[in-house]
Amino acid sequence: MSKKNQQKGPRIHPRANRLRRRAQRERMRNSPAPSEAAKAQSGESVAAEVHAPFYQVLKTAMLLGHVLLTGPRGTGKSYAVMQLARERGKQVFVCQGHADLTAEDLVGSPGLVNGSSSFIAGPLYNAVKQGAWFVFEEANLARGGIGALLNRVLDVGGTLAVPFTGEEIVVPESFRALLCVNECGYSACRPLAESLKDRLRAIHCDYWDDQHETEVLRRALHGLSGEQIRGMLTVAKGIREARKKGETNFDFSLRSLLQWGADTQFRTKNLMESFESVVIAKLGDPAEVGLQAEPIREIARFVLQHAASDFIPI
Ligand SMILES: Nc1ncnc2c1ncn2[C@@H]1O[C@H](COP(=O)(O)OP(=O)(O)OP(=O)(O)O)[C@@H](O)[C@H]1O
Ligand SMILES: [Mg+2]
Repeated sequence: MSKKNQQKGPRIHPRANRLRRRAQRERMRNSPAPSEAAKAQSGESVAAEVHAPFYQVLKTAMLLGHVLLTGPRGTGKSYAVMQLARERGKQVFVCQGHADLTAEDLVGSPGLVNGSSSFIAGPLYNAVKQGAWFVFEEANLARGGIGALLNRVLDVGGTLAVPFTGEEIVVPESFRALLCVNECGYSACRPLAESLKDRLRAIHCDYWDDQHETEVLRRALHGLSGEQIRGMLTVAKGIREARKKGETNFDFSLRSLLQWGADTQFRTKNLMESFESVVIAKLGDPAEVGLQAEPIREIARFVLQHAASDFIPI
């Protein structure tokens, strides 16, 4: 049999082949980049994420033991914990501290399931049982008794007693507790017991440096210019300084910066107008906050007028 006759499948004209290859190249160029979620699922690193300045310290501390995150509100404490948990593939059980929180809320309590009495597990029980992470938000809003319960769990070779089931669970090595507390002064917080603090590695999560804060705003607020973002950061720094000097008690968080930027980007296109409706509005009733609002309004006006008046419409 001749070579020609041995060929399998239909013969493709060389020109058709070229066209097919070109179409293939086009398709590859136009196909969307995999989403961050898809990259994370496939194990590819999510390089686009910004990490808080304290992220590396947190990473190391979590390898060694339990952690206490302190600092002003909105500096990315919770976000960093969740980021790290995702990175390490850890399951997280979260509990929000408040004045009426009981040990049962953390450990679990009797309840009805399909009409019969059963144990409803709390976040601390679940985390200990599964060797996961227990995140206690605003831990300093809870009463002292909760601290005593945690002391026993956080001890080396610690245990968790569960009165309803009669279990005494030995805390696995992979279990970690993370306590987040804001500086006292925002709300009715109680200082954490010294004995509890002694079992934790404390990390102070302060306001971010310019480089980190610029990066996170730049990525979140594509519609704003670099000049506008610089203006916003200068305003935030000015207000934070004024707070340190006792001229205002307004605490300019990263959260407020992101809200201000998003309002400007998607609604007003005007930094000063959004500053009024997002930042000043946090102070409360406009009729009552006149004097309180003035120092921070002045800082914003001054910075936005002088820093980059050509770029920032006010
Ligand atoms: N690394 C980051 N990348 C992008 N956004 C972030 C990052 N860290 C924090 N944020 C954003 O900043 C805001 C504040 O973050 P977060 O809630 O973690 O602060 P927090 O310190 O836990 O606040 P609080 O003290 O009120 O509990 C949120 O809107 C969050 O989405
Ligand atoms: Mg938080």
